[in-house]
Order: sequence, then C-alpha cells, then structure tokens
Amino acid sequence: MRTLLSTVGFLLLLLLSHDGGLTGAADAEHNLIGTDSHTHRHRRHHGHRRGEIEYSALSCRAYSASLDEFGAVGDGVTSNTAAFRDAVSQLSRFADHGGSLLFVPAGRWLTGSFNLTSHFTLFLHRDAVLLASQEESDYEVIEPLPSYGRGRDTDGGRFISENGTIDGQGEPWWGKFKRGELKYTRPYLIEIMHSNGIQISNLTFLNSPSWHIHPVYSSNIVIQGLTILAPVTVPNTDGINPDSCTNTRIEDCYIVSGDDCIAVKSGWDQYGINYGMPTKQLLIRRLTCISPDSAVIALGSEMSGGIEDVRAEDIVAINSESGIRIKTAVGRGGYVKDVYVRGMTMKTMKYVFWMTGSYGSHPDEHYDPKALPVIQNINYQDMVAENVTMPAQLAGITGDQFTGICISNVTITLSKKPKKVLWNCTDVSGYTSGVTPEPCQLCRRSSRGLFCRVTSPRVQFLLKKLSYNVVTPEEGTCEDENVLF
Ligand SMILES: *[C@@H]1O[C@H](CO)[C@@H](O)[C@H](O)[C@H]1NC(C)=O
Ligand SMILES: *[C@@H]1O[C@H](CO)[C@@H](O)[C@H](O)[C@H]1NC(C)=O
Ligand SMILES: *[C@@H]1O[C@H](CO)[C@@H](O)[C@H](O)[C@H]1NC(C)=O
Ligand SMILES: *[C@@H]1O[C@H](CO)[C@@H](O)[C@H](O)[C@H]1NC(C)=O
Ligand SMILES: *[C@@H]1O[C@H](CO)[C@@H](O)[C@H](O)[C@H]1NC(C)=O
Ligand SMILES: *[C@@H]1O[C@H](CO)[C@@H](O)[C@H](O)[C@H]1NC(C)=O
Repeated sequence: MRTLLSTVGFLLLLLLSHDGGLTGAADAEHNLIGTDSHTHRHRRHHGHRRGEIEYSALSCRAYSASLDEFGAVGDGVTSNTAAFRDAVSQLSRFADHGGSLLFVPAGRWLTGSFNLTSHFTLFLHRDAVLLASQEESDYEVIEPLPSYGRGRDTDGGRFISENGTIDGQGEPWWGKFKRGELKYTRPYLIEIMHSNGIQISNLTFLNSPSWHIHPVYSSNIVIQGLTILAPVTVPNTDGINPDSCTNTRIEDCYIVSGDDCIAVKSGWDQYGINYGMPTKQLLIRRLTCISPDSAVIALGSEMSGGIEDVRAEDIVAINSESGIRIKTAVGRGGYVKDVYVRGMTMKTMKYVFWMTGSYGSHPDEHYDPKALPVIQNINYQDMVAENVTMPAQLAGITGDQFTGICISNVTITLSKKPKKVLWNCTDVSGYTSGVTPEPCQLCRRSSRGLFCRVTSPRVQFLLKKLSYNVVTPEEGTCEDENVLF
C-alpha cells in the first residue's frame, strides 16, 4: 500500500512511505530499519530501553529544488498556489528515485491549499513564512471524514523543516464561523491523511482557521519542536489533534490556543463506531500549554473508534481550564483506556481533573443510545497544581461507570476563591493515594501501600511495548481495589 498524502487544509509534507501496514512500535521498528531514508536508534534511559523513531529527511533526499524556480514570489501579496502545486507535482516524480526536498527561501509566500507527496520534504528557511490565503475559493471543498459522517476537512502530508512559520491568517474564518456565515467546515492548517512515516519539526504555526495540525488515519508520526499560537479567544483553534492514528510522538511543543492544546480523537458516534479506527500508542512529552477555556490534553469528545495506550509526561500548564480532560457521551460507543500521565505542573487552573460523561454533541439524531463508551484504567501520578478553583469534577455515566481511575501523589493548592465542593465524583470508581486536598469521600488509601501503582500484566506489557518507564510494582493496585470515589 503506497502512502497517500494529500492536503487540503494547507500544506504538508510527507516522508517515508512503506509497504504494509505498521501496527505498533515493535512492527514499526522492524519495518523502518529496512529503509534507507531514515535512521532509527534505540536509547537507554533510566535503565529502560526506549525505542524511538528518528527520521533524517533533511539530508536523505536525492533531489532538491527551490520554490523560486517555480516562479513563486515571496512578497506576501502574490498568490503562489500554482507554484506550490507545480513544484510538488514535479518533485513527486522523484518519489521512487531517492525522494525530493522543496526549499522555501526567506520571504512571505502567500498560497492556497496544496497537497504534499510521498518521499518528500518541505523545508522552510527560518525566515520563510507561508501565509494561508484568506479567500474561501482557494480551498477546495472535499468529502467529510468517514469516521465523522459530516463536517468538511482536508487531507494532509507531513512537514519537516526548521524554524519557518506557517500563518493560517484565520481571522476572517473565525468571524464568519461565529456569525454562522460558512457553508462548510473550516479548513485545518495541516491535515495528514492516510500517511505513514511523517515528521513535522521546528516550525511555528499561527492562527489556523480551526485546528492547527490534524493527523488522521495515519501512523508513525513524529511532531516535535513546534510553537503553535492563536488568540485564546478564538473558536476551535486546537493545537494538535491525533485522530485515528497509531504510534504518534509529540514532544517539545509550546501551544497557546483558544481550544484544547492537544485533543485526541477517533471519530464521532455511529460513523466512528463503523469506521472503527482507534488512536493508540500515543506519547506526549515536554509540552507547555496555555488554554484558558479548554484542556491541556483532551481525550474526546469524538472517541468512538477508541483511544488506548496513551502516555503523557513532563507537561507544564499555565492558566488553563483543565489538565487532562475526558469527554464522552451516551451514543459515542468506543473506549478510552490505559491512559498513563505523570509529571504535570499546573498553575492557575479551573479544574485539575475533569471527566464529562454527558458531553452530548452528536453529528445527527441517528446515534445509538445503547452505544455506551468504556472508560477504564486512567492513571494520573506525580502532579502539582497551584491556584486551583476546583480539584476534580469527575462525572461518569449512570449505568456505565468509569472504572480503574487511579490518582496518586498529587498536591493541589487552592485559589483564593475555590468552589465549595472540591471533589465531585459520580459514577466513577478507582483509587487514590497521596492526594491533597482530601479526595472524594469514598476514596480510600491503600491498606498497605502509599501509592497506587499499575500492576496488571496487560498494562505492564503495554508500557513496555511503548518503551515507557515501567513502574515498579508496589503494594496497592488500581485494579484490585473496587473503591467508589
Ligand atoms: C489534494 O488531495 C485531495 C485528496 O486526495 C484531492 O481531493 C485534491 O483534489 C488534491 N488537490 C490538489 C491541488 O491536487
Ligand atoms: C532553528 O532554531 C533553533 C533554536 O532557536 C536554532 O538552534 C537553530 O540553529 C535554528 N535553525 C536554523 C536552520 O535556523
Ligand atoms: C530541530 O531543532 C533542534 C534544536 O535546534 C535540532 O536539534 C534538530 O535537529 C532540529 N530537527 C530538525 C528535523 O531539523
Ligand atoms: C489565581 O487565579 C486567578 C483566577 O482564578 C487569577 O485571577 C490570579 O491572577 C491567579 N493568581 C496567581 C498568583 O497566579
Ligand atoms: C511525587 O511527585 C513529585 C512531582 O510532583 C515528584 O517529585 C516526587 O518524586 C513524587 N514522589 C514519589 C514518591 O514518587
Ligand atoms: C456534581 O456532579 C453532578 C453530576 O455531573 C452534577 O449534576 C452536579 O451539579 C455537580 N455538583 C457540583 C457542585 O459541581
């Protein structure tokens, strides 16, 4: 199967396509080592092996060309859509002959959407700025995503490069959206669709009309060193949204946004259930987020294909509505399970922990009210939060309890005017240890151990496979206890 890369949202870049479907970290390792277009290495870290994919697409391309060879003008005014499309089309001929790189020189390059291609690197000079056209007519209208059933989106590719800027110039879109003037869903700045082996590095993304980076139906993705900035008052400008993707690593990113900094998704109600493609094996680390009206990391609300095996660590949040938030609803089906978050530092938060089982928001009236989401084995550990209005609002679904919620070693300092009820826990069960202020009444400490630890063989196995640090089993487990919060 050849990697398919396209984009409507804006631009992209893709690299490394492989035959065969890659399904996991172990498979990826095996598969990637067989190619000549990247390097892969193992590192040792705290005594644990961490298998990490590294691509070296900057130096591996046999052929390169500069955008100005295609008649582009970097004056910020001239439209370069044709130049970009022409360049990608010409360079795509080298896909099977060593690949190609398109260099975008210093300048302000106005363009409508264009697609990327396989075995291709889009490289922006540090002083290059891609300006997204503000004309609706520069954006093709394409089919909605099959796992969402409605909405209008783009396709994508991959970016790789250093330090250049891609400016979505979203302002007219935000206004039109708020005034209900748009016939179609707003474009995403980058959409990577049906692709494998994607890297987006060292770029700045500004002011997307909607979500900034949307990898969907793709695998083996590295997103690193990005700065993503949008005004905190504008609608749906999520930072990075892995959606029905396998094996994604997001690291060293700084995101300021009007919506979730990272939102993990996998399709919407009956469409997502039918499509059945989860997001799994996701690692997020060293993220700094400011999101006053949304979450640092949201899981859902569109999670109907399932979300599993998520690890997040070393996260800093400032002035955000919530830390990790799980959003789901009756009718979603799917699951969110085996989520493991450790090492979060938060300052000025409305909620530290937030789970919402009644998020609502359905694509249409035909969702199945019997399709209940399964939320289980959610682990939060080693966190400090200051200036917090309410430590936890945890609401499962009546008759569909969220289980195996494990919170340990968390210190929360309240704001001057905290809520009266600090922990509000309904239809959730699990275990807490070493948490202040005192969690929900029904939580209890382990009779033996100080901290709850993940010890189920399945979870241990998954963590190992994902090269996570495997926690030493200690007394007291999440799963053995059936303690209602
Ligand atoms: C980009 O790819 C999409 C999806 O394959 C396609 O619909 C669209 O026409 C392509 N656009 C261009 C300019 O090639
Ligand atoms: C990109 O920015 C980083 C960090 O500021 C810097 O170390 C690096 O030299 C820059 N690279 C280029 C190609 O400008
Ligand atoms: C991104 O920038 C970092 C820091 O400057 C550098 O070490 C790394 O090689 C860059 N990555 C790419 C793909 O250029
Ligand atoms: C604490 O949070 C409130 C909002 O709840 C904010 O107005 C205030 O500036 C914060 N204080 C500090 C010291 O950050
Ligand atoms: C508790 O969490 C803090 C970080 O918030 C960490 O420094 C400390 O080592 C943790 N304690 C244990 C016993 O793991
Ligand atoms: C507690 O949660 C329940 C269920 O979601 C909700 O109805 C109630 O308003 C919440 N109470 C507070 C004080 O937040």
